Amino acid sequence: MTVQRLALRGDLLDFTADPGLDTLESPAVRWRPGHWLLVEGGRITGAQADDPGEGWQRIDHTGRLILPGFIDTHVHSAQVDVIGSWGTQLLDWLETHTFPAEERMAEPMHALRLSSLFLHQLLAHGTTAACVFPTVHAASVEALFEAATARGMRIVAGKVLMDRHAPPGLCDDVPTAEKACHALIERWHGQGRIAYAVTPRFAPTSSDAQLAMAGRVLRAYPGLYMQTHVAENLDEVRWVKTLFPRARSYLDVYAGHGLLNERAVFAHGIWLDDADRAALRDAGAQIAFCPSSNLFLGSGAFGWHGAHDAGVAVSLASDVGGGTSLSMRRTMLDAYKVQAGTGARVTAWALLHAATRGAAHALRLGDEIGSFEPGAVADLCVWDWASTPLAQRRQSVARDLHEKLFAWLTLGDEQDLAETWVAGVRRHARG
Ligand code: GUN
Ligand code: ZN
Repeated sequence: MTVQRLALRGDLLDFTADPGLDTLESPAVRWRPGHWLLVEGGRITGAQADDPGEGWQRIDHTGRLILPGFIDTHVHSAQVDVIGSWGTQLLDWLETHTFPAEERMAEPMHALRLSSLFLHQLLAHGTTAACVFPTVHAASVEALFEAATARGMRIVAGKVLMDRHAPPGLCDDVPTAEKACHALIERWHGQGRIAYAVTPRFAPTSSDAQLAMAGRVLRAYPGLYMQTHVAENLDEVRWVKTLFPRARSYLDVYAGHGLLNERAVFAHGIWLDDADRAALRDAGAQIAFCPSSNLFLGSGAFGWHGAHDAGVAVSLASDVGGGTSLSMRRTMLDAYKVQAGTGARVTAWALLHAATRGAAHALRLGDEIGSFEPGAVADLCVWDWASTPLAQRRQSVARDLHEKLFAWLTLGDEQDLAETWVAGVRRHARG
């Protein structure tokens, strides 16, 4: 139940602007230690050092870190069953591990159980909003949206579109899929905190006719999202070249069907060129950088600085089950490591921003999620600074705030998460 006037005390950290990728001292970092965050009717109304007094339900988390809920901009609900599958790169991994797991989502009870577990686990890792791929089955989308609605979560998702190069149980034809999209959109898009995303899996599993249909659907309703994969793996990129010989590039296959716009989320984007990056920037589309997945599937190292310098919005994503954890904290650390491997550096600010306010803005949801701005929905997490002797020791010698945050990202895990709140309702508590 939403408490009308709620105040949470702790060390509040959020961002008022983009802190850039490698600036340690940034005015965009808003640090309010030992403050009360005020929430009325599920929305943030302010923050103050003074106790708000009687008339507020006060919860004192003094000595804990309070952050906006994390936003995972690319994750697959059906793939919790294939996390940590051994020994394959992308195309093999799809055939061997992933498609069989997705076929099981045809069964509505299985879809409901897995969707509930999936969202429960997002909350248990501090993630309160996500762009999700269910499967090709309408039941998997219904199950996800129902489970998200029950938890009040901001979820962007849609039926996965595939009509070739996949098992028959995961393929449908253009008229059936188009009808299913319309039905799901009319039932769910804009209901509460649900938004529909037209979701062609990736170019190899869609015919030209299906991609054209995706573009048609996208144009038919205002505010729809588009999500897909692009340029993740070199074998995949070569395959796309043979399947779509007339397209200038992999990204151009989507652009040619009207799928490149300001609500488009492209996962990976490792093997793009300058013209692709310019097209993404001009369209206002974003790349969901999935470092854990890119490491695990051996896909390659995403050039964050190159994308940033080209003006492309970059968010962070777990890409479970290619990624090995639903934790955005581990995702941030993996992003740091991938960048380090290319000789580049990103600050804790850049990482945290990409997982909160940056993702929110790239999704055009900056007024609703990703920060503690007054008016934003109270999606937030309460974290211990350290819960192991090693992390406590490391925190005790940290000399400044950035060092504290970076050590927190490096040494912690979901055991540090005390509570997760969605729209002013506590939806997860440790233990
Ligand atoms: N490309 C097409 N489908 C997928 C998927 O499920 N996961 C990843 N990582 N890449 C994809
Ligand atoms: Zn993916």
